[in-house]
Amino acid sequence: MSGIRRALRVAGRAAVVTGAVGAAGVGYASVIERNWFRLRHHEIPLLPPGSPRLRVLHLSDAHLTPGRRMLIDWIRGLDAHEPDLVVNTGDSLAHPEAVGPFIDALGPLLERPGAFVYGSNDLYSPQLKNPARYLWRSSKGDYRKRTVPDLPWRELGAAMSASGWLDLNNRTGHLKAAALDVAAGGVHDSHIGLDRYDAIAGPADPAADLRLGVLHSPEPRNLDRFSADGYQLLLAGHTHGGQLCLPFYGTIVTNCGIDRRRAWGLSRYGASWLHVSGGLGTSPYAPVRFCCRPEATLLDLVARG
Ligand SMILES: [Fe+2]
Repeated sequence: MSGIRRALRVAGRAAVVTGAVGAAGVGYASVIERNWFRLRHHEIPLLPPGSPRLRVLHLSDAHLTPGRRMLIDWIRGLDAHEPDLVVNTGDSLAHPEAVGPFIDALGPLLERPGAFVYGSNDLYSPQLKNPARYLWRSSKGDYRKRTVPDLPWRELGAAMSASGWLDLNNRTGHLKAAALDVAAGGVHDSHIGLDRYDAIAGPADPAADLRLGVLHSPEPRNLDRFSADGYQLLLAGHTHGGQLCLPFYGTIVTNCGIDRRRAWGLSRYGASWLHVSGGLGTSPYAPVRFCCRPEATLLDLVARG
């Protein structure tokens, strides 16, 4: 009998310790790491010889709700790094009233040349779901029954366009940044089947100093076509870097077709460079990040040697 009592006591203590560790982990992931923003930095030699440096600020997946003051202030402060070009790869909103706060967050960055695409979360409001479902399937199916957008994506796009930012949703265009000619092309979000690469298909302008491809979800079927059309730098978001990662292992799932080693960061994709942002935010219903700090990236493009 005393043996059974002892075993129950040990099991009870183990349950208390496990509960305390779990609560501490959730507290860390939701309060500390979720607000522990980092600015990553890469230098990429892809401009024509003799070109000046072109500094690109890559923002993605803010999933902003109006009360996230720390995130808003951090994004505003990025202007101090004096980017020549700002690229927003979507999922900026997570609330019907987030357009004003997001435009406020961009603040002085809107005075700079910029470009953007939408992500699914700019159109559809977040919903309560089991966050663990990403382990066995992507969130693509979540949108099958949602066909009428309920977030103010038009107002979001209009505000960025009014500042001169290039709308690259199934479009191409040119912009000037650091005295360089940038030929840009982009697609709407493949995660909800709104990408129309055929609308922009064809070789990117070979006379441009930089050929830039922009997309929300780094889906290989689109990355392949951007790369084949000569886009040198491909910028995407969507993955959140996995959002919940394992120490010494990294990203568990990417929620799209890209492999988990390219869930965030800089890599080669054929002859192109691919940068996937780990993103700035989280869904309000899964407000945690673990081993995957929220981020923005400075990409210093320099002349080839
Ligand atoms: Fe996102």
